[in-house]
Amino acid sequence: MQRAWRARTPRCGGGSSSPPAPKKPSPGGSCASPEYNDDSEEDMFGDYDSFSGNDSLLAQVDDLEQKYMQSVDFALHPENLEDKAVVEPASGKLHIQHSKSKELLFSATENVNGFRVKEEDNVWKSPDEQEERTQELGDFSLDDLPCSQQLYFEEVDASTQQANANAGDNHMNSGLGRILNQSFCHNDVEHTKTNNEPSQNIIADLNKRKSLKDHLKSSMAGNAKAQSLQISKTKQLKEAILSKELCVAKETIEASSVDLGPFYGLPSKVKDLFVQFHGIEKLYEWQHTCLTLESLQQRKNLIYSLPTSGGKTLVAEILILQELLCGQKDVLMILPYVAIVQEKVWALSSFGVELGFLVEEYAGSKGRFPPIKRRTKKSLYIATIEKGHGLVNALIETRRIGDLGLVVVDELHMIGEGSRGAILEMTLAKILYTSKTTQIIGMSATLNNVGDLQQFLQAEYYTDSFRPVELKEYVKIRESIYEVDSKAENCFTFSRRLNFRYSSNLERMDPDHLIALVTEVIPNYSCLVFCPTKKNCENVAEMICKYLNKEYENHRKKEKQDLLMNLKNIGNGTVCPVLKRTVSFGVAYHHSGLTSDERKSIEEAYSAGVLCLLTCTSTLAAGVNLPARRVILRAPYVATEFLKKNQYKQMIGRAGRAGIDSAGESILIVQEKDKHLVQDLISSPLENCCSSLLLEFTKGIQNLLLSLVGLQIARNFEEICNFMCGTLFGVQRKTLSKEKSLSDIIKESLESLIEKGLLKRKIMSEKEQKSSSNLAITQLGQAAYKGSIDLAYCNALYRDLKKGLEGLVLESCLHLLYLATPYDMIYHCNPDWMIYFKQYTQLSAAEQKVADIVGVPESFITKKASGQVIRRDVDIGVINRLYLSFVLYALLKDTNVWMVSEKFNLSRGYVQNLLNSAATFCSCVLHFCEELEEFWVYKALLTELTKRLTYCVKAELIPLMEVAGVLEARAKQLYNAGYKTLAHLANANPEILVKMIEHVSRHQARQIISSAKMLLSEKAEALQEEVEELLQMPTDTPEGLLTAATENHEATA
Ligand SMILES: Nc1ncnc2c1ncn2[C@@H]1O[C@H](COP(=O)(O)OP(=O)(O)OP(=O)(O)O)[C@@H](O)[C@H]1O
Ligand SMILES: [Mg+2]
Repeated sequence: MQRAWRARTPRCGGGSSSPPAPKKPSPGGSCASPEYNDDSEEDMFGDYDSFSGNDSLLAQVDDLEQKYMQSVDFALHPENLEDKAVVEPASGKLHIQHSKSKELLFSATENVNGFRVKEEDNVWKSPDEQEERTQELGDFSLDDLPCSQQLYFEEVDASTQQANANAGDNHMNSGLGRILNQSFCHNDVEHTKTNNEPSQNIIADLNKRKSLKDHLKSSMAGNAKAQSLQISKTKQLKEAILSKELCVAKETIEASSVDLGPFYGLPSKVKDLFVQFHGIEKLYEWQHTCLTLESLQQRKNLIYSLPTSGGKTLVAEILILQELLCGQKDVLMILPYVAIVQEKVWALSSFGVELGFLVEEYAGSKGRFPPIKRRTKKSLYIATIEKGHGLVNALIETRRIGDLGLVVVDELHMIGEGSRGAILEMTLAKILYTSKTTQIIGMSATLNNVGDLQQFLQAEYYTDSFRPVELKEYVKIRESIYEVDSKAENCFTFSRRLNFRYSSNLERMDPDHLIALVTEVIPNYSCLVFCPTKKNCENVAEMICKYLNKEYENHRKKEKQDLLMNLKNIGNGTVCPVLKRTVSFGVAYHHSGLTSDERKSIEEAYSAGVLCLLTCTSTLAAGVNLPARRVILRAPYVATEFLKKNQYKQMIGRAGRAGIDSAGESILIVQEKDKHLVQDLISSPLENCCSSLLLEFTKGIQNLLLSLVGLQIARNFEEICNFMCGTLFGVQRKTLSKEKSLSDIIKESLESLIEKGLLKRKIMSEKEQKSSSNLAITQLGQAAYKGSIDLAYCNALYRDLKKGLEGLVLESCLHLLYLATPYDMIYHCNPDWMIYFKQYTQLSAAEQKVADIVGVPESFITKKASGQVIRRDVDIGVINRLYLSFVLYALLKDTNVWMVSEKFNLSRGYVQNLLNSAATFCSCVLHFCEELEEFWVYKALLTELTKRLTYCVKAELIPLMEVAGVLEARAKQLYNAGYKTLAHLANANPEILVKMIEHVSRHQARQIISSAKMLLSEKAEALQEEVEELLQMPTDTPEGLLTAATENHEATA
């Protein structure tokens, strides 16, 4: 039969955490964005050409079955597991064991049953009604859309109908409405009957799937029989009627027994989970008001804004659960940083395990494009801004954007921040343009020009000034502390004189009286000191500890010693000398020079109160949730730039967090010379969020236009103009670009793209003229957009790869590494010429040839190292790039960030960052090559290299590091303690895990286990889906088509 099963092209996407994708190639070919390409998954059907009589195949299915049974086993033997996992029925519908637990104190009233009725209706309606509803949705008024968008929707509609026709019995979500078919309803009836007996339900489910092998056998037999008998249309019709009747019955039964949602349309169990996992017993008043807003009930887009620590997340999480459980659609949550995504995946995995939805991580090198289409469970994608964009592109490309019911954007103000802001804007604009049914919710504490954002997102706005813990703002000028009061004449009112006694020596060392300020709160309360630079963080931490009383060392002494031991393990025997001196005082620095493992340990120790003072850079303000009683801003500067109001608000917002502190205060240290600037800062409003599309030319508008054509969202000048009018840039065009009109800007960008060979004008046929499509993407353009290559480097990449084809040195991976070294890092690199020379001389002859091929002559390095002046013209970009590939090469050989950072005299954080960037860029280059036939040879090579760069650790740790939030150090601990596989972790007992693993709290142990369970269940689901797809009877067999044609002929005759 199909040899296609055997020869697999490198898989599009394939996050490390992701299970195998359905094997159908996605329309349009490959994936839309960069990510790690995992080809480690076994091809289930290996070398087999045929199903019939193949015992090995059945053996493999047995294996698969075992994996599935293992996941079901969770449900049957909850005592083996953490707490009480509830398994969801295979239908994916919400069948929660209704807890009759204690009455909760939620202020959420029981009167919001009707909330989101629209969506619930859709789920519980009979097929007839569903069809009606689908038609209603399908017929939604297109009149108010621009014509290009109408065309877009019409096409989506047509392709959806086609897909539905092809999918036969499959239940699919169209872009414009959900179609529940009969077999889907049929399943539900079975589950409904046993709804009140969860365990029986599970057993029935288990029995039903008892032997996948039997199922496979009978299916094969069935298929053969059906094909030989040929399908009778009348029989199909009869079955359809029966299914419809069953569905009506199901609806009647369910109406009387299902907990329709006493908690904002959600089952009471959700309420319990918020108490259990977050300790939240009662919603704040504003949270209740917001959740019951008329606009939300009408599924309108919403922006809401409250001060830091106002509790915005909870509202978003409830809306997400409504969409997943009641709306039965997928949700995308976009968060600003990898670390925050990981934290959220941890936190929400426990909800997913309990409530039966999947949590999929899209950060760093994790996440698959396009995402696997799940048959039963709904997915919550938690993504960084970049990965979120890739995901949306992939969903648009595969015509699945309508599957996204809700998109939540946290820290919405980031839309105004440089290239990342531009990406966020593109993502949201594409969703708005291509899916009328996807709701968008944005939140932030620091928004000013809400009107623009509202217009862009077509959203309602909700705001409140609530903050559960009062935040008192102060500034310190000389020895006096003033309370910030924007209403006072000079913004400050005197509060007190700082009480301290400094020797003249100390006064010289600490002129800002930082020690006096921090010792007012530590060690009993926590304190953050924001510093302008990384170096300053380290200096301040050391300076403070130098003069702290020795008494401070006794506070939680043992735990601090443990932390130091832990840091030593992480550093393979070395601890950063600064941390070695400061940790014993409960003090540490926190910035990007630390490795992620170190950062995580320090954060954990700070959260547990073992560390009481962190000196940090501004990145911590928007980073992980590390609250403090007192926040001190060492100076009103970030690096050399004066502080912006948004930054100031975010930094001071870390003080006084609900549930942790009862009070919070911030102190900004001001020098006399900056006093007026600080007064301006305090009295000024927050900065406006302005579109960055134009500022970031190659990363912004050009990139957007290329992908619009590539995704066929817009195919000519007019359509592009239409699209652009709907962007934030379109809304703000008059203020952002006074000289040029929107159409001039678009024209210029298109010309530039055509000049670069990324777009071309099509010679149009008569038919095409009618549909006015005259722009097309070139192969190079397609490669650039699929690989998410910055257009500024696109031609250089093409040239380098082409040159590589002429003589790629494959004796080691150095040459390939050179090609995968990210361009954007080479201009900030200052090679140490002695190290460069030393590394060069240690290369083999073949490796030295690489230097020669790429254009780094030996004489150049030698002369530089000996300090000679060089007159020759050399490309410094190439020189730096080779140096960085030496660093990467050393990393791949040693797998030890510490040793390499020492060897190259670079900070370990920088080395790790280089490695992460190279892993991402390598997968970008891979996708670039996939689109260009001439680069076929790179595909296999880069697939392997991406994997090596992504997990630059010992192979045995990889399965553990796939679990969200498990970094190398933790993976090593777990592995050494005997937790060697994902299944080991998923089945672990948190109590035992805490005992076996040092420095793991009970809460962390639970989160690791929940994340592992989630990942295991994702993988099992994907395998199961793959099997079901394989077993599905094709609807287009030659026999079937023949019968249909004959029947048609007979009918007309
Ligand atoms: N109803 C509630 N009762 C008690 N605590 C709550 C409630 N709602 C939220 N919290 C807690 O308040 C803290 C801050 O909430 P959250 O992180 O949502 O703030 P935020 O508004 O997103 O702030 P920021 O803008 O700084 O991100 C969290 O620890 C959260 O668990
Ligand atoms: Mg928040």
